[in-house]
Amino acid sequence: METTLSKPTLFSVKTKPYFQQDNFTLYLGDALNILNQIPSDSVDMVFADPPYNLSNGGFTVHAGRMVSVNKGDWDKSKGFEDDYDFHYRWLEACKRVLKPNGTLWVSGTYHSIYQCGHALQALGYHILNDISWFKPNASPNLSCRFFTASHETLIWARKDKKGKHTFNYEAMKDGQWPEDKIKKPGLQMRSVWSIGTPKPEEKKYGKHPTQKPLDLLRRVILASTNKGDLILDPFTGSSTTGIAAITQGRKFIGIDLEQSYLELSKKRFNNIKK
Ligand SMILES: C[S@@+](CC[C@H](N)C(=O)[O-])C[C@H]1O[C@@H](n2cnc3c(N)ncnc32)[C@H](O)[C@@H]1O
Repeated sequence: METTLSKPTLFSVKTKPYFQQDNFTLYLGDALNILNQIPSDSVDMVFADPPYNLSNGGFTVHAGRMVSVNKGDWDKSKGFEDDYDFHYRWLEACKRVLKPNGTLWVSGTYHSIYQCGHALQALGYHILNDISWFKPNASPNLSCRFFTASHETLIWARKDKKGKHTFNYEAMKDGQWPEDKIKKPGLQMRSVWSIGTPKPEEKKYGKHPTQKPLDLLRRVILASTNKGDLILDPFTGSSTTGIAAITQGRKFIGIDLEQSYLELSKKRFNNIKK
C-alpha cells in the first residue's frame, strides 16, 4: 500500500517516497540504497538507531514475564566482520549527505556501539560526546549473574573536525526536563540523561520492538538542531525521530526496510496532524 501525496520531495531522489506530507518523508528500502540517492551536503543532522545485533536467542523480562530478546531477523548478528562492515558503510554514506557543519547521533548497547565508535573514528568524524541514557525503569536481570543492563549509549559526532556544529547550550541548561530526576534546574546539562522507556500512549498505534522514547529524541533535536533544519533517520522504525522533529518544527526523512514499521510511522504522524 504505497501512499504519495502531492507535495514535492525536499530534493530529487530517484526512489518514490513511500509517504510524504508537509515536511515528513518516508522511504521504504535499504538505508544504503536510499542514502546513495540523496545529494551530498544536504542534511543538517542524522539520528541513527541501527540494528544492535543482539537478537541471538537470549531472554529478558517484560511486564513480569520471561520473553525472548529477539527483535527480528534485521537484528541478528552476521558475525563481527560483517556487522562492522555494515556499520562502516552506512556511517560513510551518512557522512557524505551531511552538511559540513552537520552532526550525527548513533545509539546502541555494547553489542554494537563500540563498532560504531570505531567506524566513526576511522571515517574521520569528530566525536563530541558520548551520552549515557539511563533507564530508571529498565527490566531486571534474570540470571542474577550480571549487573542489570539499564543504559544505552548515544555517540554524538560532527562530520568535520573543523566544522561549527549547533549546540543549543542555554536551551539545555535552562529548559524544563521534568522526566529527568538527574538534571538540576539552571545547571549545565550533563552527559548522563535519565529518561524512562516509551510511555503507553506512545505505543497506542502499535508497537515497534525497539521504539525509542519521545523525550529522548526531543532532547537530541532541541540540543543539536534549529527550527527548519533537515533531520534524517536511516533506520526510522516507528519514526520516533520524525515525530519529535515535526513537533519541534524541523523537516524529516526516514528510511526503513519494513513496510509495517512505515505504516506505524504514518499512523503516528497522522495523529500529530489532527
Ligand atoms: C533499532 S530499530 C529503530 C527504532 C526506532 N528508533 C523507533 O523509535 O521506532 C532499527 C530499524 O532499522 C530497520 N533496518 C534494519 N536494517 C535496515 C537497513 N539495511 N535499511 C533500512 N532499515 C533497516 C529495522 O527494520 C528497524 O525498524
